[in-house]
Amino acid sequence: MGNVGSGAYRILRDNADIITHREGVKYTVTGALVRDKSKSRGDIPNELLTTDPNDILNDPEVDIVAEFLGGVEPARTYILQALNNGKTVVTANKVVLANCWPELEECARANGVGIYCEASVAGGIPIIRTLYTAMQANRITKVMGIINGTTNYILSAMSQQGKSYSEVLSEAQSIGLAEPDPTLDVEGLDAAYKLSLLSSIAFHGKVPMKYVYHEGITKVSKQDIAVGKEMGLTLKLLAIGKKENDRIEARVHPTFIPNSHPLAAINGATNAVYLDCDALGELVLSGQGAGSLPTGSAVVSDIVYASKQSTPTYNTFKNDDNVSENCFNFNWESEYFISIMAPDRPGVMAAVAGVFAANNISIASMVQKRSGEPGVPVIFLTHICHELDMKRAIEQIGSLEGLSVSSCIRVEALSK
Ligand SMILES: NC(=O)c1ccc[n+]([C@@H]2O[C@H](COP(=O)([O-])OP(=O)(O)OC[C@H]3O[C@@H](n4cnc5c(N)ncnc54)[C@H](OP(=O)(O)O)[C@@H]3O)[C@@H](O)[C@H]2O)c1
Repeated sequence: MGNVGSGAYRILRDNADIITHREGVKYTVTGALVRDKSKSRGDIPNELLTTDPNDILNDPEVDIVAEFLGGVEPARTYILQALNNGKTVVTANKVVLANCWPELEECARANGVGIYCEASVAGGIPIIRTLYTAMQANRITKVMGIINGTTNYILSAMSQQGKSYSEVLSEAQSIGLAEPDPTLDVEGLDAAYKLSLLSSIAFHGKVPMKYVYHEGITKVSKQDIAVGKEMGLTLKLLAIGKKENDRIEARVHPTFIPNSHPLAAINGATNAVYLDCDALGELVLSGQGAGSLPTGSAVVSDIVYASKQSTPTYNTFKNDDNVSENCFNFNWESEYFISIMAPDRPGVMAAVAGVFAANNISIASMVQKRSGEPGVPVIFLTHICHELDMKRAIEQIGSLEGLSVSSCIRVEALSK
C-alpha cells in the first residue's frame, strides 16, 4: 500500500464493475502487507493491513499475490513462498527480477503458476504484453527506450531552458520528480535494470544485469546540449538493446538522436519505447512511466491477464542460465560527438585528426567555437566506428600536450 500498491487497489475498487462486466471475473483484495500500520493512507481501509507476510502468503483463499516492496530482499523470499504455495505472482519490482528472474521463473514453472511483470518496465506503458502477445511474427533487432522519467525530465529542462544539470536536478528534487538521493536514476542504473528485462523479453535470451553497460547523465553539460541542438541533435538517456545474429548488446548512456527521431519528441517525465522489427518495422509506445494510477493500471492488467490464463505463460528464453560473455558485444558501433579543449596553435587539428585516423575513426564534421579562454572548444562528429577504437583514441588525444577531451557522447543515427 505504497504508491503502486494503493494505485492498484484503488483501480480494483473503483473500476470493479467494468472489470467484472468485461472480464467475467470478480476480484477481492483480502489483505496488504506493510511495515507500519499506523501510517496515514487516506481511503485505504486499515483492516486490510497486516505486518505479517504469512497472513497473505499462507492464506489458502488467495490466488494472486502482487508484490510492490521493491529491492531484492525480502521481496525474493516472499515471491518464492507465494509461488511455492501455488499462488501466481504479479510484480512491479525490476530489481528483484533483474537479479533473480531465472530462479523465480523456475519456481513458478515447478509449481504450475504464473509470474507477470508488466509494471516493472516503463510503468503504465504496456510494452511487455505487447512484446509477448503482439510481436510473435517478428524478429526484433532493436529496442530503444526512454525508460527513466527523472533523467528525461532533467535533460528536457536543460535543453528547453538552457539550465545546468545541477540547477535542474535541485528543481526536480523540490517538486518530488527526483529522489533526495537520485543516484539510481541519474547514474543510469534504474534504466539498466529495466533494459535487462526488456531486452531479455525482446530477444528471447537472458540478458543479465552484469552484461548491461550503464553510464549516467551527471557529466552532461548545457554547452554540449546547445551545440548538439545547432547540429539538429537531441540528447536523451537512452536504453539501447540490439541483436544481430547471436550477438546482443545492451547499454544505457546519454545519446544524441536526430531531431526527426520519434524519441526526440518525448519530453518531461514521459517514457517511450521504440522497437525495430523485421516484419512490422518501427513501433513506438509512449506514456506515463511511473505514478500510482498509471503503474497500478499495468498491475491490474497483469492480474486480469493472469486470472484468465488456463495455463501460465512463461518467457521463451533460449540461452542457458550461464550465458557466456561471447553473446554480448561491448565493442558496439556508433557515431560519436566528441568535444575537445585545444590550444589555439598550428598543428593541433592535424594531431587530433592523426589520432582518429590511426584508430580507424573517420571524421564526419568539425566545428570550432570561439572562446575567451586560453583553449578553444572543438567539436567533432564521427562516422560509425567501434567503441573500443574510440576509447583508445580518447586516451591518446588526452595525452597530447595541452589537449583534453571534455565529452564523448554516442550518436544513434537514424539508419542504425
Ligand atoms: N512508484 C512508481 O511509479 C513505480 C513505477 C514502476 C515500478 N515501481 C516499482 O514498484 C515497487 C514499489 O514502488 P512504490 O513507489 O510503490 O514504493 P513505496 O511507495 O515505497 O511502497 C512500498 C510498499 O511496500 C511496503 N514494504 C516495503 N518493504 C517492506 C517490508 N520489508 N515488509 C513489509 N512491507 C514492506 C511499504 O510499507 P509501508 O507503507 O509501511 O512503508 C509500502 O507500502 C518498486 O519495486 C518500484 O521499483 C514503482
